[in-house]
Amino acid sequence: MNDSTTPVDRYALVGHPVGHSRSPLIHELFARQLGHSLTYELIDAAAEQFEAAVRGFQAAGGKGMNVTVPHKEAAFRLADELGDEAAAARAVNTLSFAGPRIRGDNTDGPGFMRDLKVNNDQGVESRRVLILGAGGAVRGILAPLLAERPARLVVANRTPARAAELASEFADRGAIETCSFEQLAALGDFELVINATAAGLEGEQPWFPESIVGGATFCYDLTYGVDDTPFVAWARRRGAGRAVQGWGMLVEQAAESFRIWRGVMPDTAPVLAELGAPAAR
Ligand code: ATR
Repeated sequence: MNDSTTPVDRYALVGHPVGHSRSPLIHELFARQLGHSLTYELIDAAAEQFEAAVRGFQAAGGKGMNVTVPHKEAAFRLADELGDEAAAARAVNTLSFAGPRIRGDNTDGPGFMRDLKVNNDQGVESRRVLILGAGGAVRGILAPLLAERPARLVVANRTPARAAELASEFADRGAIETCSFEQLAALGDFELVINATAAGLEGEQPWFPESIVGGATFCYDLTYGVDDTPFVAWARRRGAGRAVQGWGMLVEQAAESFRIWRGVMPDTAPVLAELGAPAAR
């Protein structure tokens, strides 16, 4: 707890843009739940301002930062030491400051896996898994998915060469097949389909073959919104067994960052409920 002589611990999210982020609310709810006293700010910084924003916050006594689009790879390069997940992803979403040193962790993968397995009761082992998209959002989730030994893991992308590059980068962690969206038509259906394209952020839904989704398919959209995302709406129309958006991952990755900074894991269920997220449908 805090008294008037103890400075309140400061945290922040740095990204571009950050204006609509729910992270301050989520961390405030975690802090209230656990009786911690802290502040969580939003820092909007373009690419060329990123390093100065981090070092400025650290110099001002900040304890840690979350990092979002488009800075996760720059944060990886900035960190003096890395957690295992960050080293595997080559991307960092959580910075912790200890004196002048900067530690980088990646909680996207653990947050995603926890939402998938614990909150949604979905296993990965021996299942056919498809990832749509091959951008930064895929980096954090590839290694933990491969570690669960799926029967097959396919990464399909609008630009297939980008998927192939990602697959070769992660080749030592397991087999990844890559293809275009069109080529998916020849591969049958999948038990788990993860949308990691950024298309939904602009309200767009790329064309995917209908055959990728069957009645038992679990569809997961890494993006989230107040209403169904375009991908979740598409998956429902295709008759997917279940389709959820990424509110759970958002809260779980925040909880994992909170645990790294504060040494205690918050209870995520009441926070997800308080956000009013349609995550459990
Ligand atoms: P992020 O960090 O959110 O993953 P990113 O690294 O820019 O952002 O990657 C965006 C991903 O969404 C890429 O897979 C991109 O496909 P390309 O590699 O072909 O660019 C995909 N994407 C973005 N807009 C898309 C659209 N309208 N249709 C299909 N894929 C799209």
